[in-house]
Amino acid sequence: MTADTGDSEGDLLQAARQFSFGGRMDASDAGPIFVRGSGSEVEDINGKRYLDFNSGQMCAWLGHNHPAIVKAVGEACERLIHAHSSYYNDQEIRLAERLGRLLPEPLRKSLFLQSGADANEAAINIARKYTGGFEVASPHISFHGMSDTTRALTFAGWHRGYGPPQPGLMAMLAPYCYRCPIALKPDSCGLACLDASFELIDAQTTSRPAAVLTEPIFSAGGVIEPPPGWLPELKARCRERGMLLILDEEQTGLGKTGDTFAFEQEGVVPDILTLAKHFGGGITLSAVSTSAEIEEQVVEDEFIVTHSHSNDPLACAAGRATLDVLEGEGLANVARRLSARLKSKLQALGERFEIIGDVRGRGLLLGIELVRDRETKEPATTEGRAIAQRCLEHGLIFSLRREGSVLRFVPPASTTDDQIEEAAAILEEAIAEVCR
Ligand SMILES: Cc1ncc(COP(=O)(O)O)c(C=O)c1O
Repeated sequence: MTADTGDSEGDLLQAARQFSFGGRMDASDAGPIFVRGSGSEVEDINGKRYLDFNSGQMCAWLGHNHPAIVKAVGEACERLIHAHSSYYNDQEIRLAERLGRLLPEPLRKSLFLQSGADANEAAINIARKYTGGFEVASPHISFHGMSDTTRALTFAGWHRGYGPPQPGLMAMLAPYCYRCPIALKPDSCGLACLDASFELIDAQTTSRPAAVLTEPIFSAGGVIEPPPGWLPELKARCRERGMLLILDEEQTGLGKTGDTFAFEQEGVVPDILTLAKHFGGGITLSAVSTSAEIEEQVVEDEFIVTHSHSNDPLACAAGRATLDVLEGEGLANVARRLSARLKSKLQALGERFEIIGDVRGRGLLLGIELVRDRETKEPATTEGRAIAQRCLEHGLIFSLRREGSVLRFVPPASTTDDQIEEAAAILEEAIAEVCR
């Protein structure tokens, strides 16, 4: 038992089994139970320390308890935690201004909500109001949240058994080049997955298309980066059909991929952008940003989105502090530097271990895909789960995707070179043990 919580792991787990709702993603009811965190490390109730290469639930990407967030939240608590959301508060106006100046033209107008799902839900409703349509397509490995509409557009999993989805929500083919869904090669395919996708969308439409919603890099789907050219071509095809492009940068935005926004690499500005996850530096906060032209039209048409905690000054203060850290600490450059180091470690493991079929990702959103055979690419799911379990025991946390065959690494920007070395050593040992 550690000194300051006054609790033991056994008592807490027993209480959790009795009173806590289960049903967590990647669940374990055997611990660990976290009690504190700082930078890239968290500590459990027994005082054991872990390298958190999952950044909490990806929301602590600035580092756990970043001092700028702690300060901003403390000050907001002294002044105004929550406010009437029909009126403005100073924190939300300054945050909107700051974000509007950070984003490229024409993305100028922002609203603030709490979760990634509600931001995507709002973005879809803005697109519906603006276009007058209702049909929305999303790639078949995407993850957009667990509200009704976003879950229905989450094709990476967690999809079955919740009743009929709304009409007009469609899957399109994702550019998962390591396992191309139409068995082509990225250097010669001519983006045929987009041709096939839009052939199906055009066949299914009732002439009321509204939007395509996509991540610029598919995170929960298995850390899958589209090939160059995919995003601009997607935007062009949306344009031809009067569909808006909604980019869900909730995982990839604000420095993580080595640019302030992942879309910068492809020179594509979306019609609507959503941010969440580390936007609040660990406090729940999300944003929807769009052009003044779209905003004016939908507001004129009585678009409303509001929840009890929309635009809360506490969360918006945390968002402002996150943007200070993003710019003040140059997080995009930090991500590039740390990424080069971690990726080279993962690539070296890929040379040593046959089980590593692919090393991929951008910035500090990296993954390795495990296969039983590099030719057949049979997914090594049980092996992935065993590797993750051994790493957890040795103090390294990351997440598993694609049923265990993809190991996803999202270390915080606070991670040191020594922590990368330590993590790589734990991972190497775990892979060696499992492959022995
Ligand atoms: C890309 C993406 N969009 C949306 C969401 C949903 O965000 P939230 O869990 O805050 O609703 C997630 C969560 O993992 C995500 O990764």
